[in-house]
Amino acid sequence: MNRTVIIAIDGPGASGKGTLARRLAAHLGYAYLDTGAMYRAVALQMLQAGADPADAQAALVAAQNLDTRLIDDRQLRTDRVGEAASRVAAHEDVRQALMVFQRSFATNPPGKSPGAVLDGRDIGTVICPDAQVKLFVTASPEARAHRRYTELGARGEAASEAKVLAELQVRDARDQTRSVAPLRAAPDAVILDTTDMAIDAAFAAALSAVAGKIASNGEPDL
Ligand code: DC
Repeated sequence: MNRTVIIAIDGPGASGKGTLARRLAAHLGYAYLDTGAMYRAVALQMLQAGADPADAQAALVAAQNLDTRLIDDRQLRTDRVGEAASRVAAHEDVRQALMVFQRSFATNPPGKSPGAVLDGRDIGTVICPDAQVKLFVTASPEARAHRRYTELGARGEAASEAKVLAELQVRDARDQTRSVAPLRAAPDAVILDTTDMAIDAAFAAALSAVAGKIASNGEPDL
């Protein structure tokens, strides 16, 4: 019996991994899960309740009682929520609570899809260490800050590019140095550096890495 094809995509913020993951999933007809959105939703729920994202117990309660409608909330992508999400994501119990859903999505994707694409920070290392394809998407901090600055501007959130860069570096450091599931590339991940790549070139490179991995794993052709 063919098992579900799992594509794990990890990388730092604004590396382009979300766009690539979404495009790969649409192209392949696979289900897509943005795991960062789940951490953001927990953070937003806490902020709305006036709770402190550093409070591990309150964060766990929010994760266990997550109102999934928050995933579509306009505030989800704001910097304030991103910052709080990075704090929430450092709590081990919160990660455990969200892991159950993420693993079951990967192995039994909705709509009986033949595959699933998950993006985040620990998909290839912790959530789906057996994923057939692992990509680690990265870019220089300056390139990522420029992208985030442009995104924020398009949404009418004013910020200076220097401030965006400084905040991104703080968040990178927190994601990379936390004790549970720190951001890092799995040893068997294909590294994709998108610093000097436009999105179409990055997508072509990602698709070719996926096709190469699937062929070498003896999985059915795409
Ligand atoms: O990718 P993002 O900016 O939406 O993620 C928000 C925060 O959630 C980020 O600081 C890292 C964290 N995160 C995580 O720790 N593990 C994941 N699988 C996804 C996101």
